[in-house]
Amino acid sequence: MQHLSSIILIAAIGKNQELGRNNDLLWRLKSDMQFFKTLTSGHWVIMGRKSWESLPPRFRPLPNRTNAVVSRNADFSAEGAHVFSNLQSAIDEARTLQAEKIFIIGGAQIYRQAIEEKLVDEMYLTHVNGSFDDADVFFPVIEESYWHIQEIGRFDADLNNEFSGRFLHYTKNAVKF
Ligand SMILES: NC(=O)c1ccc[n+]([C@@H]2O[C@H](COP(=O)([O-])OP(=O)(O)OC[C@H]3O[C@@H](n4cnc5c(N)ncnc54)[C@H](OP(=O)(O)O)[C@@H]3O)[C@@H](O)[C@H]2O)c1
Repeated sequence: MQHLSSIILIAAIGKNQELGRNNDLLWRLKSDMQFFKTLTSGHWVIMGRKSWESLPPRFRPLPNRTNAVVSRNADFSAEGAHVFSNLQSAIDEARTLQAEKIFIIGGAQIYRQAIEEKLVDEMYLTHVNGSFDDADVFFPVIEESYWHIQEIGRFDADLNNEFSGRFLHYTKNAVKF
């Protein structure tokens, strides 16, 4: 029996939807790291193989979370994580195991598929107040009318945060699409 888990996407994006460069992030934001950790701890996190490889080895697998990695490479293995051959089978397994919340944590390819396939129930997007000309991966443009958007927090640029930013929570609008 599958559980009705919610599927929650979480990402930090620049002013032009920038996500990363050279398989790394574009910023050091302690407040965002803390926000990510608080929300995802105790839950499933699903990521693409490149994002898994971008994690610093000491944070791999992400502690106190069930880590799931998707790869088309049947020989790929990730110590401390479950590996799946596609996003849907990772979600199916999490549901079979009664996961309450399933977080989609990137990167660009995985976000795009999750949004295009309308798998996502909620999103937490950190809007970073910076533009990055050399970014090489971007968050997809989303249909604003599909979402009810609420600001749930913000942070200033300071010693811990290279840029200021806002935490926005997106829930699906009542209108059926
Ligand atoms: N700002 C943020 O919040 C945030 C969050 C996460 C990541 N990032 C950044 O995003 C970048 C990485 O994103 P990315 O788009 O290059 O890579 P990605 O989405 O993390 O991983 C892509 C890989 O996932 C696998 N994959 C994708 N679609 C699949 C499918 N349908 N079935 C099975 N496997 C599939 C493939 O692995 P194989 O090649 O092994 O088949 C593919 O190469 C980095 O710069 C990272 O720092 C930013």
